[in-house]
Amino acid sequence: MNSTNKNAKSGIKSDAGTNNGATRFSAAAERNREAILAGLVQLLPRGRVDGEKIEVLEVGSGTGQHACFFAAQLPDVVWQPSEVESLQSSLMARIQDEGSENLRAPLVIDVFSSPWPVVTADVVYTANTFHIVSEPGVECIFEGASRVLVPQGSLIVYGPFSRDGRHNSEGNTEFDKFLRLENPEQGIRDINWLNQLAAKHGFRQAELTPMPANNFIAQWGLSSQR
Ligand SMILES: C[S@@+](CC[C@H](N)C(=O)[O-])C[C@H]1O[C@@H](n2cnc3c(N)ncnc32)[C@H](O)[C@@H]1O
Repeated sequence: MNSTNKNAKSGIKSDAGTNNGATRFSAAAERNREAILAGLVQLLPRGRVDGEKIEVLEVGSGTGQHACFFAAQLPDVVWQPSEVESLQSSLMARIQDEGSENLRAPLVIDVFSSPWPVVTADVVYTANTFHIVSEPGVECIFEGASRVLVPQGSLIVYGPFSRDGRHNSEGNTEFDKFLRLENPEQGIRDINWLNQLAAKHGFRQAELTPMPANNFIAQWGLSSQR
């Protein structure tokens, strides 16, 4: 994998750093949005008996491209984007320009903060964040999600994962090295470790959907026994 590809996959450093006026843009987010949407359509709850829309909280919305696209394509969903404070203005700019009616204004959520400023969600969704935030940050996502999710809720995570310490492609091996060189707290997470964290915070084991470019969508549903 060349450095352009590595940077494109990490999103935030180069790819998403491109400014179009006040709004940041990620070519990677544009490329993978159709495949992720197709995965989400299979995994989101089918509709609520009370006729209310499905509430999705997105953590680490980045440029907001996914939030705008998914909200427009999923009219039965209310999409709640969120980001750290420093990226709010660019995220807000995109949402004001492109957002549909079922897309809320972004919240400030740093995954380390507690409690998150959200009352409830049917789904917590996050893409390409587990390899960017530190290991304690990943645990904060499970913990925060377990607090806001309804009893039948789930955490849905898109990105690369390893299994038993092994990457599923040469590209992901190189990407993991690149991430750790850039910041030792970053790195592709192992699905077995993630399942241990999930169990600690009241989730069942992950259901994995393979995605293009050696990524996955992992869904952790809340356990009925927690
Ligand atoms: C690679 S980008 C992915 C952005 C977007 N989800 C996507 O797939 O295009 C990683 C995102 O994680 C966010 N992030 C990093 N640390 C965070 C934290 N402590 N709390 C919340 N978000 C964080 C970054 O701001 C960035 O938007």
